[in-house]
Amino acid sequence: MAITILGIESSCDDTSAAVIRDTLLLSNVMASQEVHRVYGGVVPELASRAHQQNIVPVIVRALQLANVEKEEIDAIAFTRGPGLLGSLLVGASFAKGLALSLMRPLIEVNHLTGHVLSHFVRLPEDDTEPPRFPFLSLLVSGGHTQILQVNDPLHYVILGQTIDDAVGEAFDKGAKIMGLGYPGGPVVDKWAKEGNPLAFKFAKPRIEGLDFSFSGIKTSLLYFLRDQLADNPQFIEHHLADLCASWQLHLIDILTDKLIKAVKETGITRITLAGGVSANSGLRTRMQTEAKQRGWELFLPPIRFTTDNAAMIAVAGYFKYKEGLTCELDVAPVSRAGEMSK
Ligand code: KG4
Ligand code: ZN
Repeated sequence: MAITILGIESSCDDTSAAVIRDTLLLSNVMASQEVHRVYGGVVPELASRAHQQNIVPVIVRALQLANVEKEEIDAIAFTRGPGLLGSLLVGASFAKGLALSLMRPLIEVNHLTGHVLSHFVRLPEDDTEPPRFPFLSLLVSGGHTQILQVNDPLHYVILGQTIDDAVGEAFDKGAKIMGLGYPGGPVVDKWAKEGNPLAFKFAKPRIEGLDFSFSGIKTSLLYFLRDQLADNPQFIEHHLADLCASWQLHLIDILTDKLIKAVKETGITRITLAGGVSANSGLRTRMQTEAKQRGWELFLPPIRFTTDNAAMIAVAGYFKYKEGLTCELDVAPVSRAGEMSK
């Protein structure tokens, strides 16, 4: 018998609900929050309030589009964390209420596991196979930068991670320093296409092993621009495309160096990308080039599954459901990854 799962994601500034039948996606509805744009970043209080406004219509729409009655749902999967606590509480509370009223099991999902498993969401028109295990996942988002060895859907080892900022923050903060809008990643990506990536060079962070650091290089960009602006107040306007292209290449180089190292250390050549930054066109092209040269089997997520979405939460919930991994109704959201299981 096919299993129908409703997934709910509300960890940051997107309210999303999805319905899957086994791993086949029936609907994936998203309400993004424009309210944060003018503040240059997500304002937690406003995010919680917008989730509260969006959650019911988003879930009703997801069920309608899937052509599924709520009584047909076998289980409800929700993002327990990591994320903004006030945002998570909205999705978690709704999931609990629905689980209780329908008398269906509740499944807590780690947001990071969701990103990693986004490759397993099947679309009706899909004729590609998901990655086989084990594989390496380069998880790059606004909150996380990790290289994971994924041994099966529910077991992975973190081989390396950022010790400070995430790479998405480096994109966003770099964009902010250059006076571009929020979120900066897509804007930098757009400008970078017009520029010369070799125009400016930035120093690489010296971090041992497979860990990352992005906070120091952000400061070095700030000082570099401060010095240039002292000579030419229009420096940024005159060189915007080259600056974006060079900054983007710098970040891509840092990610690629560590990934190559992880492949060498593990001997695993099956590579997946996940998270918002995996939408970056420069990173995708670079990964394709590296994969071709090095004989990697590469899996790039469809763009719409790179940023936060409930389809990935539903599919992670599906794998947990199959293992009987449901949770109690007294489960509480957590803001940090270390506070919960996979
Ligand atoms: O996965 P995500 O939606 O949320 C988190 O879990 O953090 O990732 C959001 C991040 C933001 O930092 C955003 O700037 C970045 O993903 N991003 C990009 C691109 N699209 C989104 N960064 C670089 N290039 C892009 N095209
Ligand atoms: Zn995310």
